[in-house]
Amino acid sequence: MIPEHAKRKNEHLSLAEKFYDQTHHQHPFDQVRLLPNALPETAVADVKPAIKIGRLHMQWPFYFEAMTGGSDQAKKVNTALARVAQKTGLAMATGSLSITFKLPQFNDSFKTVRKINPDGIVIANLGANVTVEQAQQAIDLLHADALEIHLNSTQEIVMPEGERSFRWAANIKKLIQHLDVPIIVKEVGFGMTKENLTSLKKLGVSLVNISGRGGTNFVKIEDRRNHDASFADLYQWGLTTPESLFEAQMVKDLTVIASGGITCPLDVIKAGVMGAQAVGVAGYFLHEYYQNGEDGLLQTVLNWQEELKRIMTILGCQHFNDLPQVSHVYGADLQNYIQQRL
Ligand code: FNR
Repeated sequence: MIPEHAKRKNEHLSLAEKFYDQTHHQHPFDQVRLLPNALPETAVADVKPAIKIGRLHMQWPFYFEAMTGGSDQAKKVNTALARVAQKTGLAMATGSLSITFKLPQFNDSFKTVRKINPDGIVIANLGANVTVEQAQQAIDLLHADALEIHLNSTQEIVMPEGERSFRWAANIKKLIQHLDVPIIVKEVGFGMTKENLTSLKKLGVSLVNISGRGGTNFVKIEDRRNHDASFADLYQWGLTTPESLFEAQMVKDLTVIASGGITCPLDVIKAGVMGAQAVGVAGYFLHEYYQNGEDGLLQTVLNWQEELKRIMTILGCQHFNDLPQVSHVYGADLQNYIQQRL
């Protein structure tokens, strides 16, 4: 018998894959067009893809975003992701470690990530209601370089067994005050507003991942797990990733990471143009792994790395943080959104 929590982790993996194709008919990054540069005055050899996020040094501006851990299947996926991360120099976040407080028999499904990649950047992940001691325990388990705290009220509210009370702010402040590693506060695919980001900043948060709509959709995933209540009315809930990045532009002095619906190197670059200083990719790489195995995923990451450098070259950008200088125009929907939010 698989314990209930571990079963849930397996269902997240299989349902993310099941819904993968359906989620990509509408691609919010089509609303962002970059203008070409006929006179780039640079060369691929001069592009330096490494970035710095707060105290974190990453070799590449994109990384494996939080997905899994806490079951035998999750261990298999994390092991493959970690091996690819190790070979390609990508940073990697694990899925939420809260399951380790209930089912420590699956701790190996997380530990494998650090074992395979002793020198890589590994990021732990937890919900916003954990104690300082629990957070430290999760960080220690992975020897994590950073901790992501996820804000997932939309996901929880759709789950029959989910949380119904969302008073998180005071605890986030406490975690930031008491933990030594950098803390990234992230959404899980519904985006964040400038008001949210301003509130987080007041709590002492300096790193955020706005994780917007456009990729993995946790309303659909949890709704399918329920089999009874239908939350179809919430399938379009949330801000897209470009909309959220625009929100973040209105808040100064925050380091912004993007995720949600990133499906190609050009999306990574468009997120950079809109102000993201790093980019997380979850569903797309999971899909690649399920379709083409670990070797297919490895080849895809290598292709992305090369293509990213080439596109940066034709834009005349040698560093990822040069990208906000790139001229761009917005499609009608995104422009309409922006006008109403200014
Ligand atoms: C996730 N995501 C996630 N996020 C988080 O903070 N903690 C978690 O445990 C999980 N678990 C998880 C499982 C699976 C199977 C997927 C696909 C995703 C959310 C993820 O980190 C990201 O925010 C969203 O998926 C949006 O990015 P993509 O998938 O559109 O690239």
